[in-house]
Amino acid sequence: MKTMGETASPWADMYSVRGRRIKSSAIRELLKVTEQPNFVSFAGGFPAPELFPVKEVAEVTQKILAENGEQALQYSATEGYRPLREWAAEEMRKVGVPAQVENVIITTGSQQALDLLGRVLIDKDDPVAVESPTYLAALQAWRGYGARFLQIPSDSEGLSVDGLQEGLKEKPKMLYAIPNFQNPSGATLSLKRREQLVQWCRENRVCAIEDDPYRVICFDDRPLPRLIELECAQREEDTYTGQMVYLTTFSKVLAPGLRVGVVVTHPELISKLVQAKQASDLHTPTLNQMICYEMAKTGFLNQQARKVSTVYKERMELMYSEVKRIFPEGTKVSRPSGGMFLWVTLPEGMDADDLWKKALNRKVAFVPGAPFFPDNPKSNTLRLNFSNSNLDTIREGMRRIEEALHS
Ligand SMILES: Cc1ncc(COP(=O)(O)O)c(C=O)c1O
Repeated sequence: MKTMGETASPWADMYSVRGRRIKSSAIRELLKVTEQPNFVSFAGGFPAPELFPVKEVAEVTQKILAENGEQALQYSATEGYRPLREWAAEEMRKVGVPAQVENVIITTGSQQALDLLGRVLIDKDDPVAVESPTYLAALQAWRGYGARFLQIPSDSEGLSVDGLQEGLKEKPKMLYAIPNFQNPSGATLSLKRREQLVQWCRENRVCAIEDDPYRVICFDDRPLPRLIELECAQREEDTYTGQMVYLTTFSKVLAPGLRVGVVVTHPELISKLVQAKQASDLHTPTLNQMICYEMAKTGFLNQQARKVSTVYKERMELMYSEVKRIFPEGTKVSRPSGGMFLWVTLPEGMDADDLWKKALNRKVAFVPGAPFFPDNPKSNTLRLNFSNSNLDTIREGMRRIEEALHS
């Protein structure tokens, strides 16, 4: 037994099984290094802060506080601010999803939605099918609930439905997909695969979580139809009662610090999520929801999405051409048609961790790809973020990576 004079933490032996399963995210750890002055970071998934509509948010906040200050600062419904829920339902109806207000809950960012879904749906050892690679923080959230991940292989057209049909050894309890400009791979699920995936979910009675934070950061044509839209093309109902859970967020276009996300799904699952959210944080900040509603209602959000997409496209193109120029022959790089990330596969035998260490010495960071794989990580992969660096910074960061490659 340790005596009082010893330094062991009194908490070390106290954690629950769930507490012990929770591990720090590799990216969060990485980001600490990048806070040094003069550091170029292609690591985090941060939007460009210089594009945040600071003035417009200030004006809208003033207006809300002047007209409706008491409500804005009061506790509010766990389901979310009703006008914002109504707006979200209407947006879905415009694309053929028969969503009503009872199909919608507002969450504290999409990340909370992922956590709440894990809490109400995942028991220890439940099989959850995920793309490989996939969003790290979804893996992190669901590992805490004991999920067992079944990997679906993916390529430049997104997750492989053949891999799903033939490769999975057991039926998953649910499936998680990011069809647009995936994090980390940048891939977009092709229309044919979307249709096949919806069909597969229907035939196998598997629920799917469609996580869609990057949809409106779209560089070329219009984004492809959502999985939930394709599902609804085959259903006739007034209120959505299908097997998809659609997630979106205000983080990537408006501001992640507001922490406002939207979930659209079956009313029964919404009620369960509301109960779980009650215990978690009572509700998402009322004022922030009102700000998002005002920005959406006036059309400002769409305008902002176009602005952000134009700037990010330019950054993506520069970073893509720099990767082509500096990385050795045999390197593959995705050319995303939206979103915030490039995914690089180095020639076999090269290790992204080695390059990462050399890069850190030159004050430039990216994320080695391994943590994005639920199993069997590919150590020759890495993710580069282009949204959070201007063109000069991208050139400088790439110059440093070039030096690291030659060292
Ligand atoms: C695929 C994916 N899902 C969810 C999130 C979380 O977004 P939010 O800020 O809404 O919690 C992110 C953020 O990086 C993401 O990339």
